[in-house]
This record gives sequence, structure tokens and C-alpha cells, in this order.
Amino acid sequence: MSIKVAFVGLGVMGYPMAGYLSKAGYQTRVYNRTFTKAQHWAEEYQGTACDTPKKAAQDCDMVFVCVGNDDDVRSVVYGDDGILAGLKPGAVLVDHTTTSAELAIELAQAAKENGNAFIDAPVSGGQAGAENGVLTIMCGGEPQVFDEVAPVMDAYAKQSNLFGENGQGQRCKMVNQICVGGVLQGLSEAILLAQKTGLDVEQVVDTLKHGAAGSWQMENRAVTMSNDQFDFGFAIDWMRKDLGFCLKEAQRVGIELPLTQDIDQRYAELQKEGYGRMDTSVLIKALGKNQ
Ligand SMILES: NC(=O)c1ccc[n+]([C@@H]2O[C@H](COP(=O)([O-])OP(=O)(O)OC[C@H]3O[C@@H](n4cnc5c(N)ncnc54)[C@H](OP(=O)(O)O)[C@@H]3O)[C@@H](O)[C@H]2O)c1
Repeated sequence: MSIKVAFVGLGVMGYPMAGYLSKAGYQTRVYNRTFTKAQHWAEEYQGTACDTPKKAAQDCDMVFVCVGNDDDVRSVVYGDDGILAGLKPGAVLVDHTTTSAELAIELAQAAKENGNAFIDAPVSGGQAGAENGVLTIMCGGEPQVFDEVAPVMDAYAKQSNLFGENGQGQRCKMVNQICVGGVLQGLSEAILLAQKTGLDVEQVVDTLKHGAAGSWQMENRAVTMSNDQFDFGFAIDWMRKDLGFCLKEAQRVGIELPLTQDIDQRYAELQKEGYGRMDTSVLIKALGKNQ
């Protein structure tokens, strides 16, 4: 395949995503802040480890990013060694990091001034979705640019959709995170009642998952929640970043999100208790105190 791609940020999500690009036959370059991870990736897959984002981006048709927060993205995109310094005219920058919508708009402008196009493309599906190449991708940007990158993202996605101009992908991800938080709070209360009334949680889940209460969280998290297992999955630290974007966006459009606000506070308390790296399903621990 003649399309050349680069992937910047080989974390829990980026490492397998970049691997799928290589396995799909794209000439792939990678960059990671901790270079040993990029070297390890290049031993496992066909591709080249580069020691700056600029070198990874040079000659590429598309560069994909998946790092931590807004400032982490800025640190790999801007500057003398950044992606924009290396991108050839007409190439596309795609950001899979979950960020603010403002950052997406800022990056779109910076890319345009550099002769490039930009797509904000946060993902859903977690570590398992990345490792199995079945992520859901929520995009913002120009339709013709989306049409160019979507077939490439198919390497690690089961679905990618365009929701409008730059920023709309990130806003759709905010909607996703509000849903996840609400479902987890409901599940926490449901499991607590089931346990306190002597129901077998596994049997309850096996039955309810087929009905109207069924959800991804119920299928994948209810049993581990009832067994007090949280050392895996999507960390509270990331979730608080995301809920912060939701609450800021709500303020911008003049609406209240009372449940999201409450859940964010519960996560803040759990962070103080040292659960920051635990999966978001640890929300159940904010209930049940003294019960
Ligand atoms: N994990 C999930 O289930 C999940 C699901 C959906 C969305 N997301 C989102 O996807 C993004 C990445 O998540 P992840 O779980 O893959 O995170 P992660 O495992 O912590 O990896 C973060 C990656 O970003 C790099 N990085 C962080 N700060 C950087 C900086 N200032 N400059 C350069 N590189 C930097 C890290 O490099 P080093 O190796 O040097 O630390 C690492 O490669 C986040 O925005 C998260 O909210 C995660």
C-alpha cells in the first residue's frame, strides 16, 4: 500500500492501534516520548521508530496522535520537533486523544495555516477495543478529509462517523462519557441493593443483560464490581479529565448536568483516597460507605 502513516503516542491505546496500521500494510512510523516503547513496537511490528514527532511525520500522508490531555497534544504537535514542522503540504493530522473541543478548533486552525487538514477523532471501546481493533471513532472535520482517513482508521475501528465541523467529534465523546458515568452510578446502586438483599449478582447479570437494563458496563463490569476488582481498564484520572470537558461545555451552552456533576465529585473523592489509576467502575466504592 502506498499510503504512508505515522502514529504518535504508544500508550495503552496507541500501541495496538499503530500495530493494526502496520498489519494492514501501511508504511508506518511511530514516535513515543519514552523511546524504548517505540523501539519495542518496531521489534514487534513492521515499521520505523523515530525519536521526534517531526521525523515521524515527514513524508507521511496521515499522522495519528493518541496521547494524554490537551497540553500533551500541544507538546507533540507544535515546536521545532513537532508534527506540524514535519508534515508535508496536504497531509492530514488526526487526533485520537480525548481533549477539549477548543483544542480541536485550535489544531484545525494551526493545521490549516501549515497547509494541512485536521480531524478530531476520539475513540470509545477501551483497551480491549484497541487490542481487538474494534474501536468506535467520533469525528469532527471536513467531509472530504474524513472520507480520506476513514478507510485507514478501519484498520482498528468497527465504526467511525462524522458529526460535523472540528470539535464535534470531541463533543460526541463528551456525550459518551456522560452516558458511561450515569450507567456506572446506576449499576453501583443496583449491585449494592442486590448484595444487601442476598441476590446472586452473577445470576442477576446473566438474566438482566438480555433485557432493557442490559449495557456494556453491565456485561463487562458488574461482576468485577461485585468482586471488588478494579485494577484494570479506564482510569478515574482520565475520566475526571473527560467529565471536566463535559461540565465546561455544559456551562458554555448554559445547561446543568446534575448527575454528571455529582459523579465527578464522587470520582474526586475516590482520587483523594488513592484510586486514581483504578477503573471507572470503582465508583461503587463511593456508595456503600457505612452500609
Ligand atoms: N485507556 C482507555 O481505555 C481509553 C479509552 C478511550 C479513550 N482514551 C483516551 O486516549 C488517550 C490515551 O489513553 P491511554 O490509555 O493510551 O493513555 P496511556 O497509556 O497513559 O498513554 C499515554 C501516551 O501518551 C504519551 N504522552 C503523555 N504525555 C505526553 C507528552 N507530554 N508528550 C509526549 N507524549 C506524551 C505517553 O508517553 P510515555 O510512554 O512516554 O508516557 C503514552 O504514549 C487519553 O486521552 C484517554 O483519555 C483512553
